[in-house]
Amino acid sequence: MNNHKLLQTVNELMAGDKGLLAMDESNPTCNARFKQYGIDATEENRRAYRELLISTRGLKEYISGAILYDETIRQVTLEGSPMARAVTAAGIIPGIKVDTGAKAMAGQAGEKITEGLDNLRERLEEYSSMGARFAKWRMVITIGKNRPTLVCIEENTSALARYTMLCQEAGLVPIVEPEVMMDGDHSIEDCSRVTGLVLREVFHKLNGQGALLEGLILKPNMILPGLNNSNQNSVDEVAAATMSCLLRNVPAAVGGIAFLSGGQSANLASHRLNAICTINREKGIWPLTFSFSRALQLEALEIWSGKESKTLDAQNKLFESTRRNSLARSGHFSNTY
Ligand code: G3H
Repeated sequence: MNNHKLLQTVNELMAGDKGLLAMDESNPTCNARFKQYGIDATEENRRAYRELLISTRGLKEYISGAILYDETIRQVTLEGSPMARAVTAAGIIPGIKVDTGAKAMAGQAGEKITEGLDNLRERLEEYSSMGARFAKWRMVITIGKNRPTLVCIEENTSALARYTMLCQEAGLVPIVEPEVMMDGDHSIEDCSRVTGLVLREVFHKLNGQGALLEGLILKPNMILPGLNNSNQNSVDEVAAATMSCLLRNVPAAVGGIAFLSGGQSANLASHRLNAICTINREKGIWPLTFSFSRALQLEALEIWSGKESKTLDAQNKLFESTRRNSLARSGHFSNTY
């Protein structure tokens, strides 16, 4: 395992007040988002949209890494440059989503198991040769009646740890994403309890398989009440619950933490990130940042809506969103917006 290379990439990804741009939506997810804004679900539209994102002027000021999808990394820009090379040329580190999706888990109604371990060693080698320096794997846990089951947590975390080991063997930094979903009417305490349980199992498995904790980035959910819970906690309560859950359950050795947005509004995600990072500056141990998809992209996507004439406006919105979250990372968001 090339520890030095892994640590170097982690340092670059977590540097300054930058964050990660998750633009690795699978085709069905990307098409569903396109549909909301009347954009045709074509390969060319997905390519044009991803090129719009990565060619945003000055993006590297606030974005250190961009997570691509398999289709995207195989595409080329209008000028003929392979996407990963274009990302690198923009001063941003290319990464790649390598799981093949969360599928219905046989025997566990309502739960999902993430797939993608088949041929992963060979796929990582190929992605690495295309320029990817980090990878992402997302497992999904839902909270509900009798959920999550222990077997769902067990099997998902085992796969997450196997993915981590293969990434580190290949010299790619693994982004480890155990997402506890916001859907449901559970309380913030339920989210904290389940997220704590999941994180403890994640690190039990990672340590059991010998992962280099310093050479990975954890991508967790914030600790939030379910979307249908009538008690939506304040920003400060969310920040306190999130930091407390992380401090109790994430080893200090972990190289960095980059939050997912999980379907929160762009504004709330930034406010909450700002409050979390403010506490982290006093109590925290890890570099902490964002790795958002929806909270960075949706406003820009709406402006673009598939119209070439709107490209610059959409890029300006993306740039503003990345700046807002960069400010939040340094705890300066609320003072300026
Ligand atoms: O896997 C999910 C993405 O990496 C993060 O997406 O910020 O919309 O939750 P999100």
